[in-house]
Amino acid sequence: MKVVYPGSFDPPTNGHLDIIKRASNLFDEVIVAVLQNKSKSPMFTAEERIEMLYNILEENSNIENVKIYKFEGLLVDFCIQINSKVVIRGLRAVTDFEYEFQIALTNRIMSKDIETLFIPTDTNNLWLSSSIVKEIAIFNGEVDNMVPACVKQKLKQKFS
Ligand code: PNS
Repeated sequence: MKVVYPGSFDPPTNGHLDIIKRASNLFDEVIVAVLQNKSKSPMFTAEERIEMLYNILEENSNIENVKIYKFEGLLVDFCIQINSKVVIRGLRAVTDFEYEFQIALTNRIMSKDIETLFIPTDTNNLWLSSSIVKEIAIFNGEVDNMVPACVKQKLKQKFS
């Protein structure tokens, strides 16, 4: 079965990588779907985020069944387009729940055929988010245990 793992990935973190790895053990194919909606103003372009995700896959060559796509517009339309009925999202603390529940229910209203499954974060990444990483990187702080090596490199380039 094919699963979609959607997100902004601005930038991808160790938390995202953990969910990608675990999803790739559960499903035949994992489509990492990078959002490019005009309403969001990310720090990295969709192309940069996709490049970072490709680099992460190169660093983790044991993950073989993952593809990276860009999408615009509604997630349910993207899922229908690529013929996937399952969306996965990582869940950290209770604070994530309301936001995630809202997205999952909205998607369900739009398409009854698509199910959202949640994977609880690894306890190491409970506190971790792309926003936290950006906040630290902007001020040249250390992001060693938060992002894969290639993302650290990219952040260094951006803020040096
Ligand atoms: O990493 P993020 O920013 O929390 O991911 C949010 C994402 C991409 C899953 C969500 O914003 C999304 O699916 N956007 C596409 C537009 C859409 O389908 N909206 C309806 C559900 S709220």
